[in-house]
Amino acid sequence: MIPPVLATALSDVAADIDARFDRLLAVPDDARADLYRAMRHAAIGGGKRLRPLLVCATADLFGVSRDCSGEVAAAIEAIHVYSLIHDDLPAMDDDDMRRGKPTVHKAFDEATAILAGDCLHALAFEVLADPATHADPFVRAELVMAVAHASGPTGMAGGQMMDLVAERSRFDLPTVTRLQQMKTGALIGVSVEAGAILGRVPPEGRTALRGYAHDLGLAFQIADDLLDAEGDEAVAGKRLRKDDGAGKETFLTLLGIERAREQCRMLVDQAVEHLKGFGAEADVLRALARYVVTRDR
Ligand code: IPE
Ligand code: IPE
Ligand code: MG
Ligand code: MG
Ligand code: MG
Repeated sequence: MIPPVLATALSDVAADIDARFDRLLAVPDDARADLYRAMRHAAIGGGKRLRPLLVCATADLFGVSRDCSGEVAAAIEAIHVYSLIHDDLPAMDDDDMRRGKPTVHKAFDEATAILAGDCLHALAFEVLADPATHADPFVRAELVMAVAHASGPTGMAGGQMMDLVAERSRFDLPTVTRLQQMKTGALIGVSVEAGAILGRVPPEGRTALRGYAHDLGLAFQIADDLLDAEGDEAVAGKRLRKDDGAGKETFLTLLGIERAREQCRMLVDQAVEHLKGFGAEADVLRALARYVVTRDR
């Protein structure tokens, strides 16, 4: 069960993110209409919105307004949604269901899906660089730098490449850990980092939050792999039992289900432990970490 404090926080953030994408992605009355419709299909009304909540809940610790953190949260969610659209393409995981709906290349076509991903990627940086998002150009530049580093070859896209190679290689545990850290951990990490940047926490003050995000990111991907092996497709809203069929090396193939679950729990405990310097104001972050081990979607 999701604790009420987390359920409320997630539904508030979800409504806020939907409203922001609705505004950012107004469909033009010209030949690009389907491109915008495809972005809306992927970005609005779905997903757990965990990354946006990480941005907002971290920024809340430092008294940042939701006006501001919500916009940065939408930018990071746009990167995540783009990564899902491309991850589902026939050239990658070839999936037909996402967030309980047909994937973008099924609902539209492959070319539109590729372009919708490209556009959400660009949109994220446009939002981060917009003076309306934050008045301080140093804050904006730091956000752009951090999100770029987490998205490209040193982050999500680099991890996705390693994930493809994992289908035809025998990776050991440190290599799979690095892969998952990049593929999934990097965007989770930058969500927390963005909250700290908005809170004007200097880098040397971010150690505990970085430790939290690091352990949460790994736990999150182990949970995704467990879900792939054991979950219910109707609840998860996406095809499962894909990793095994693809012959992919994951935490599960290396550790087995029981040890993977144990590892996931341990990482969540560690993530929560990193927050010991915070009081009740960090309860949403704690609940979010706990939710990761028990989630069924
Ligand atoms: C799925 O992410 C892809 C991974 C990085 C494992 P989420 O499980 O956060 O997907 P949504 O946003 O809720 O759809
Ligand atoms: C995708 O990982 C991670 C991304 C960077 C998009 P998966 O391929 O395991 O994600 P799902 O299971 O399709 O959501
Ligand atoms: Mg994949
Ligand atoms: Mg996939
Ligand atoms: Mg998966």
